[in-house]
Amino acid sequence: MLLNMIHLNPTQPTWVFGYGSLIWKQDFTYLESRPGRITGWARRFWQGSHDHRGLEHDPGRVVTLVAADGEHCEGRAFLVKPEVFEHLDHREKNGYERIAVEIAFDSGGVDGVVYRASENNEAFLGPAPSEEMAAQINRCEGPSGSNREYVIELARALREMGYEDRHVFEVEGWVLGE
Ligand code: SIN
Repeated sequence: MLLNMIHLNPTQPTWVFGYGSLIWKQDFTYLESRPGRITGWARRFWQGSHDHRGLEHDPGRVVTLVAADGEHCEGRAFLVKPEVFEHLDHREKNGYERIAVEIAFDSGGVDGVVYRASENNEAFLGPAPSEEMAAQINRCEGPSGSNREYVIELARALREMGYEDRHVFEVEGWVLGE
């Protein structure tokens, strides 16, 4: 269930900022996409997933955003038509809320939305040592595939865009056994 949904303009396309699987798995249509970033947030593998990358009794770990003063989270934004949100809301239903965010592009800023799973949702797992998170990730698999694939594909997509995310790359390193 989506807990809270920011109001969307029903007639205009909206920018949605992707920082996890939305970056590398686009099963939705969009009018335009651009690399971008949001300020005051950090990406962390702190959200449990029992509908995509794990199971009810053995949830995998996927990323959410945690408030982090002065930090940036880099990703990719997509301009989508209002009707696409039905699909996105369903895809992100396991604890994520749609919240308003300002997205910065090289060319300037736009108002948009982002899916964030807060610490108050039932599936939230919170922090753990990277080695432990990697062991969980290597074990878990769900209806959308392995949790390992989620991490490896996210790290690959960030590298391809020229982004450095120490948290993601550290967890990936443990997942790969490096
Ligand atoms: C996102 O990608 O922006 C949200 C989290 C996810 O679906 O992995």
